[in-house]
Amino acid sequence: MERSIRALIAVEGLDSFDVQRGMPDDPSFQLLGVTEGVDDTVRTLQTREVDVLLVACEGREDDRSLQIIDSAHRTAPEVPIVVLATSSPNGFLRRAFEAGAADMALFPQSKEQLRFAISKAVARHLRTGERYGERGDGRLICVLGPKGGTGKTLTACNLAVALALANRSVLIIDLDLQFGDVALCLGLPPEKTMYDLAMSGGSLDQEKLTDYVMKHDTGVEVLLAPARPDQASAITIELLRDVLVVARANYDFVVADTPPGFTAEVISTIDASSDLVMVGTLDSLSLKNTKLGLETLQLMDYDDSKIQLVLNRADTRVGISHHDVVTVLGREPRIFIPSDREIPRAVNEGVPVTLSRPQSYAAASFHELAALFTGDTPTDEPVATSHSPGGRLLSRLRRN
Ligand SMILES: Nc1ncnc2c1ncn2[C@@H]1O[C@H](COP(=O)(O)OP(=O)(O)OP(=O)(O)O)[C@@H](O)[C@H]1O
Ligand SMILES: [Mg+2]
Repeated sequence: MERSIRALIAVEGLDSFDVQRGMPDDPSFQLLGVTEGVDDTVRTLQTREVDVLLVACEGREDDRSLQIIDSAHRTAPEVPIVVLATSSPNGFLRRAFEAGAADMALFPQSKEQLRFAISKAVARHLRTGERYGERGDGRLICVLGPKGGTGKTLTACNLAVALALANRSVLIIDLDLQFGDVALCLGLPPEKTMYDLAMSGGSLDQEKLTDYVMKHDTGVEVLLAPARPDQASAITIELLRDVLVVARANYDFVVADTPPGFTAEVISTIDASSDLVMVGTLDSLSLKNTKLGLETLQLMDYDDSKIQLVLNRADTRVGISHHDVVTVLGREPRIFIPSDREIPRAVNEGVPVTLSRPQSYAAASFHELAALFTGDTPTDEPVATSHSPGGRLLSRLRRN
């Protein structure tokens, strides 16, 4: 027989006796007790084995229930919280979900419906919880660059396309929440974005994530950044973590494009990632910043062997030799991307260079980068074109 669900109820602003009377009374539901206020609830969560916390309240925005949800979620993030509210104004719902609620049901309602709503929330949470435990099978590649404009978005988009062309399932997530331009690079209209996902509330699973991703012709799936900078604040770190966990469990590869620098979102993504791609360019300022970035990763105890260093515009004649690069960075770049006039054109047209110029050196570099992750051997030999005259220089840089 299925084990019964052990529920704790926190009551706020309602009659505790009425609430208890309205609870399901079949054997699959076990009421552990009733708490009042933040402290009582937190203490009980710390000392009892609880499967679900029900927060029964009126659903007002100034309701103390929001504090209960917030503190309970911090104390026991593994326990799903279902809000039972006598009314559900939009503002309250949104704040309840932001505070950590997993689901919401109107109260009072029939005992049968209530039991169904509660078991659904518990089952959903269990599934996500398992994923938390195993961290998913897919690899999460976080594309980083400590400075703006080094080619992070270019690299993230072309890496995603190259992985898809190698028959892997790929999700690219645009974490440049304010000024994301993955949509532009891939020529996708921002019909659905992460902002819509954040606004939808409730707990996240693969089905729901699928509803909010866009599909590129290559098969790459895309979770776009909000369309406007003011929407960025709706994407909480919590949501981001959930997205990354669910995504890793469901794709072979998740590629995250990031804004410059180590923002909170970037740090969370680095923490959740299996691999990093650090993109620098061949100029002294960028190299200095790349070195600082690598040092920061070292301070974060990131496994050095999981960091791939990509040198973009690697054929630019700026008087910096390969030797200088290795001396400054203390390591060999793994991949070199040439400057290519086709690249900005490809960006303008929304067709990544791996597709618009599949035979170019630039495309070959991205396939080479993808092969570091797939373990496949890239087959297409690049040919020097008038757009990519840097071939010879590049071969010299690639000499290891
Ligand atoms: N190898 C290259 N050859 C030619 N143009 C390039 C190359 N790499 C990048 N660019 C151009 O430089 C610009 C910046 O590239 P990209 O948007 O990928 O950088 P980014 O690091 O994502 O920038 P941001 O920090 O602003 O997000 C783009 O217009 C891109 O087309
Ligand atoms: Mg970018």
